[in-house]
Amino acid sequence: MTRQVHVDLGERAYDVQVGPGLIGQAGAWIAPLLARPRVAVITDERVAELHLEPLRAGLKAQGIDMVSLALPAGEATKSWPFLSQAVEWLLSQKVERRDVVVALGGGVIGDLAGFAAAILRRGVRFVQIPTSLLAQVDSSVGGKTGINTPHGKNLVGAFHQPSLVLADTDVLATLTPRDFLAGYGEVVKYGLLGDASFFSWLEQNGSALAAGDRDARVQAVARSVEMKAEIVVRDETEQGDRALLNLGHTFCHALEAATGYSDRLLHGEGVAVGCALAFELSARLGLCPQEDPSRVRAHLRDMGMKTDLADIPGDLPGAEALLDLMGQDKKVIDGQLRFILARGIGAAFVTSDVPGDAVLDLLKDALAARG
Ligand code: GLY
Repeated sequence: MTRQVHVDLGERAYDVQVGPGLIGQAGAWIAPLLARPRVAVITDERVAELHLEPLRAGLKAQGIDMVSLALPAGEATKSWPFLSQAVEWLLSQKVERRDVVVALGGGVIGDLAGFAAAILRRGVRFVQIPTSLLAQVDSSVGGKTGINTPHGKNLVGAFHQPSLVLADTDVLATLTPRDFLAGYGEVVKYGLLGDASFFSWLEQNGSALAAGDRDARVQAVARSVEMKAEIVVRDETEQGDRALLNLGHTFCHALEAATGYSDRLLHGEGVAVGCALAFELSARLGLCPQEDPSRVRAHLRDMGMKTDLADIPGDLPGAEALLDLMGQDKKVIDGQLRFILARGIGAAFVTSDVPGDAVLDLLKDALAARG
């Protein structure tokens, strides 16, 4: 069963298809976009091994030829040298303005290939085929594309909406349990920020999802994408409400920086820990019921996810240093830290009005609990 989510952005509107077997049917989905039967695919070497030949066959079934570039897997690929390589390769393949670039991979490939498409010949269309849970529920939808620089993550980029997203839920079976759960951190985030009944559904169905229940996976991805689409349609370029999608991210970015963007903490794991901290802070500030942070943490624990600072291996800097790292988040405006806090589960809001002392005390207590 395929679920379709429409991202209603006027001239830039597109559909996200969510369901099993979509890579094998890619030709049928993509054909209506093509001026000639040929696409250029950018992927990474790990994803290529698993999914490139099935994609080639899916395109071939509709008579569409494919050329491909497989870049090294990993965050380091989201950088100037590989952007340059991707753009030069697209030019060498004579990709024209009316052609379509396909991004086959996780968030790194989606962001890089999307940005390459945004700047190639002043913009060509692209299709996202996200192969990680995180990319399916977050980065492939909404048009944020870009690269990291030595100054920080995602500092160079463009809003460039895809023309189609194919979220093939069968590929989730190829993820390691750790990568699946890291992506699940972003799924939980949607329940926490805007849909309490979705959070309750996740409490009931989370284990089935992790165990591979195909229908539950389709439902979870589709509901997450629906929520993301609603927010992006309200605020495409993040002037306001889109910041809600950053629930947990201010804490997460500080923790990622403190752990050197390493294997010690994956992005989605940091989001989960960050959501738990954001609810704890909300409860301490009297904004949400006192029992909400425990409920959030109980679900993360039930799923076997990182929940507290104690779950992050190795040393962490002190509370002041973490607060400093939060201040370097690019979402700081005029030196004011912006937080996403909550009035309850499913009721997040954006605020710059958070006393620094409350954050510092929270971090001190969370660090002390590491023992
Ligand atoms: N990942 C957050 C956003 O797309 O705005």
